[in-house]
Amino acid sequence: MTDWVLTPEQLNTLLGFLLGAQALLRDVLHGLGLSGTVAGQPEWPLAQRLSAEVLVFEPGQARRLLGCIAALGLALVLAALALLWRRARWSAWGGAVLVLALAPWGSASVWLVPALPTSFHRSPTGFTAESIVRGQASYQQHCLRCHGADGRGEGPEAASLPMWPPNLNGRLLWQRLEGELFWHVRHGLRDRQGQTTMPGFGDRLSDTQVWQLIDFLQAQASGRTLAQTGRWEQPLRLPDAPVRCARGPALWLHELQPQRVLLAPSGRGDGAVPVDPRLVTVALPLPGSPPASSADCVAEQAELAQALALVLGVTPARLGGYQLLADRQGWLRARSAPGSPGWSAADLVCRAETGAQPGADSAAPAAGLAGLIAQMDAEPVQLLRGGFPH
Ligand code: HEC
Repeated sequence: MTDWVLTPEQLNTLLGFLLGAQALLRDVLHGLGLSGTVAGQPEWPLAQRLSAEVLVFEPGQARRLLGCIAALGLALVLAALALLWRRARWSAWGGAVLVLALAPWGSASVWLVPALPTSFHRSPTGFTAESIVRGQASYQQHCLRCHGADGRGEGPEAASLPMWPPNLNGRLLWQRLEGELFWHVRHGLRDRQGQTTMPGFGDRLSDTQVWQLIDFLQAQASGRTLAQTGRWEQPLRLPDAPVRCARGPALWLHELQPQRVLLAPSGRGDGAVPVDPRLVTVALPLPGSPPASSADCVAEQAELAQALALVLGVTPARLGGYQLLADRQGWLRARSAPGSPGWSAADLVCRAETGAQPGADSAAPAAGLAGLIAQMDAEPVQLLRGGFPH
């Protein structure tokens, strides 16, 4: 019994449940008039929240928490029984008290971390290309001086600060809940002595602008990581933008889900946007090049090209000839570089952490785009924020 450990899937379900339960508690408290509204969403009124990290890294803690949840559930059932069934009333109440008393509540303090009023806020931007590009403009105006042009923390003022700004291109942005990043940019950060380490921007930037900055930071971090390591370490959505399709009304890219989307900036010189029944192809004509005529849809928003250049870690001038592939859930999974002879499994640059290595034991993986799609579908990715599945 004591050696029983949750499988990764069970742990994931538990974490998803806990995130949902906390968001529900927030909404119920708000609905009862016990908490206010911050930045347009119900606030989290408690000083603490559950920590996902503790549960991920210490299997024993997840087990104990599960024990407490089970005890709560059982106590509720017994309480209901006590109310409904008069003859068993006293034994049911006794059972409920006993179950609660035996649950391992002693660990509760370990599961909790300090929370912020916006801990469970969700970004309202929809990760649109426009939001990313606006975030970029705000970044250049307000953040670059410390965080540097590339987000690595080497801005012109960095050396004069009491604390060196962190590299924003690693895991940091995903180790936080997005609502907590939002709060940090809005209100700034302090060290343990209460000294300001980063100023707050709530007086200069609107809430929307802060969310846009967070979109931009994630796009930039992904592009930098791809350029350095050849991988998108964290799942990233295909930046959203309007598209026109030959059949049907004007749409947004995300409305093409659950179809896989292949996005081709400019179409290659030879116009070779693959025609494949398993994909919706979207051409993005770049200035000076005609749209690839074979594509199913066309996206014309200039911001989309800028946002894609960011997530690819290239300058907009070098975007021509790249292609990007998003899976059925809208995650960017693969990219093919200009001049490559065709798609291959090596282009799958956003992979599940537990994903099998290509070709490790599968006898004969299909080649080209077909093989890539098969591998992408077999290996869905999941986004974690602050350790919770989103
Ligand atoms: C005066 C310099 C300065 C400016 C301007 C600045 N930052 Fe920071 N930033 C810092 C420092 C220093 C830290 C590390 C603070 C700490 O961990 O206590 C930091 C940390 C961060 C973090 C990590 C927060 C976390 O949860 O750990 C983010 C995100 C961030 N900054 C975004 C921004 C954005 C967006 C802007 C522009 C609106 C900005 N910063 C402007 C200096 C600055």
